[in-house]
Amino acid sequence: FRTLDSLDCAGKRVLLRADLNVPMREGRVSDLTRVERLVPTIRELADKGARVIVVSHFDRPKGKRVPEMSLAPVREALAGTLGHPVHWADDCTGPEAERAVAALRDGEVLVLENTRYYAGEEKNDPELARALAAHADIYVNDAFSAAHRAHASTEGVARLLPSYAGRLMQQELEALTLALENPERPVGAVVGGAKISTKLDLIGNILGKVDLLIIGGAMANTFLAAKGVSVGRSLQEADMHDTARAIMAQAEARGCEILLPVDAVVATEFKAGAPNRTVPVDAVPDDAMILDAGPLTVQRLGEKVGGLKTLVWNGPLGAFEIEPFDVGTNTLARKVAELTRAGTLRSVAGGGDTVSALRHAGAAGDFSYVSTAGGAFLEWLEGKTLPGILALTSLGGIAAPV
Ligand code: 3PG
Repeated sequence: FRTLDSLDCAGKRVLLRADLNVPMREGRVSDLTRVERLVPTIRELADKGARVIVVSHFDRPKGKRVPEMSLAPVREALAGTLGHPVHWADDCTGPEAERAVAALRDGEVLVLENTRYYAGEEKNDPELARALAAHADIYVNDAFSAAHRAHASTEGVARLLPSYAGRLMQQELEALTLALENPERPVGAVVGGAKISTKLDLIGNILGKVDLLIIGGAMANTFLAAKGVSVGRSLQEADMHDTARAIMAQAEARGCEILLPVDAVVATEFKAGAPNRTVPVDAVPDDAMILDAGPLTVQRLGEKVGGLKTLVWNGPLGAFEIEPFDVGTNTLARKVAELTRAGTLRSVAGGGDTVSALRHAGAAGDFSYVSTAGGAFLEWLEGKTLPGILALTSLGGIAAPV
């Protein structure tokens, strides 16, 4: 794909696909990460004299104008972060958008209303793609986190305009490639979360790529149960035992070491501050639930991670949202942060819960790279081709040079 290095956009209209699908509380943006990470691309385009037209989806309005899903508050947050005014149009196509685009001057920025107010967005309707493309001379996609969607603004438009990857897109792709496609070995992965069933493709894909696989979260309970360990009332998937056994056999055949917990923090209630104790995994009481990895496990994981050169992290080790069951995740995350700071480990993390867990641990800032993507990060770990990326590499990006 082409990057902004080769883009001469002075006086040109640039349609910038961002991912402004940000967390919002009481009508205000509650986490600015995606906005802040977008700013370098906007600044670079504006500094080069482009007229920057930002488009994005927000939430899932399903083709209707749902007022609570307006991008208006995000436009304000963007203006605040950029430190200068950002124009606004109440629609992403039609006369209002066209007027706003026509009024833009070189170096100015405009945000258009939620693309998902149109049903054509998610249907990748060529008519909507054409209407969006008509606003601009050039398309820049900076929305890695929406690249798993083949929508009009992420895929359709790339068929119609000369297309480029923005700086955030470029950064995400470079970091992810270094983590799994072309990593320094040994390479390991932490895969946590509730269910094997949602991470099957992911595990299948990375088994052949990593030397060490750390299984955490409730998913580990299913693996333990599949090995005949009694996990009491812990969350687990009884219908996945055969699958878990097959994964373990496959890992062994491929020379990938799977690490499961050896001890666990258990409680009889799933709530903050619930009375709890630490037990070996083969001594979980019948009425108890595993809510976190135990200290021995975390110590062992820390030692193993100390021997790695690269680590990919997706999913927490325990119920990190409720104290004190965040200790396992916090401790391992801080260890990874320390190794990364020391320069011995390249650490890459991504996927919804993961980033909040690492932030909660105060460790996210020290990781080599934290992706802005949730679902797209997962699909990339699953080895899937992301349509938004494919479009950049094989459609407008190459077929229609400026
Ligand atoms: C995300 O937040 O992961 C992306 O913006 C995609 O959102 P979606 O899952 O609603 O398509």
